[in-house]
Amino acid sequence: MTTTASQEAFLQAFHARRPAVTAEAFGRGRAPDGRSSYELLCDRVAGRRRVLDLGCGDGLLLEVLAQENGRQLAGLDLSAQALALARRRPALAGARLEEGRAQELPFADGSFDACVCHMALMLMGEIEQVAAEVARVLSPGGVLACVVGGGAVGGEAYERFLGLLRNTIEEVPASRRIPALGDRRTRSRDGLDEVLGPAGFAAVGWETVPIDLSGRVEQVWAAVSGLYDLGPLDTAAVERLRDAFFAEMRDMTTPEGAVPCAFKVHIATARLH
Ligand SMILES: C[S@@+](CC[C@H](N)C(=O)[O-])C[C@H]1O[C@@H](n2cnc3c(N)ncnc32)[C@H](O)[C@@H]1O
Repeated sequence: MTTTASQEAFLQAFHARRPAVTAEAFGRGRAPDGRSSYELLCDRVAGRRRVLDLGCGDGLLLEVLAQENGRQLAGLDLSAQALALARRRPALAGARLEEGRAQELPFADGSFDACVCHMALMLMGEIEQVAAEVARVLSPGGVLACVVGGGAVGGEAYERFLGLLRNTIEEVPASRRIPALGDRRTRSRDGLDEVLGPAGFAAVGWETVPIDLSGRVEQVWAAVSGLYDLGPLDTAAVERLRDAFFAEMRDMTTPEGAVPCAFKVHIATARLH
């Protein structure tokens, strides 16, 4: 299997078990202005009628996009199970939802005014091919708007969780660890310029926003334990990690019972020439 094929096989197997994992965690996340990262992304394509969601998962972003009247929406994902959830959303009854790869889009040239991608671009291999395909299906002047993960804010639960996770993963034999996912260049402005420029996009606009995921310890655990890195851990290892996390959170919990947790996201936008 090629590297990209093994990454995609891992992602498909992971989302077959947890098809709504990202929306469950990030749907309740809030930026400083009180809105979710899905809503922030939606703003970047306001007024654009034909919109494609790349790696649409269970369709939460498409549902937010559908709040603007008269839109023609399409979503594409590797995961049949995630798409089955998207198809159950009444707001998406008229959307075209396709199982497939971002590297080979099943859409005609120039069929969209915008392409959005929430927490998925940074997982994709053969990223130049993805950039070329997005450029092909966008009409001239079309916009690509993405949310990519930016890591822990620091001094909160997610940072502590990552420390515990590193120790747990060291116990897993190297042969069972997850394949390195995606292309690192998608996580920085310069890197994304390097990928998108040759495909015909103008310079990338870049904003970094903290997303507050604070809540009861069970809610915070549900968010952080959705990371792909937990995929290869057996039940006993996940239980040990959970116990260690709950123990470490005791001294961080506020008198009201909330655990502070935050995650940075980068919002990147680029316009096709
Ligand atoms: C972290 S989830 C995000 C799902 C959704 N966008 C959200 O934020 O709720 C990443 C999604 O991207 C999809 N994905 C990853 N690589 C892909 C590819 N090459 N082509 C299509 N979908 C892909 C996965 O199947 C998964 O559903």
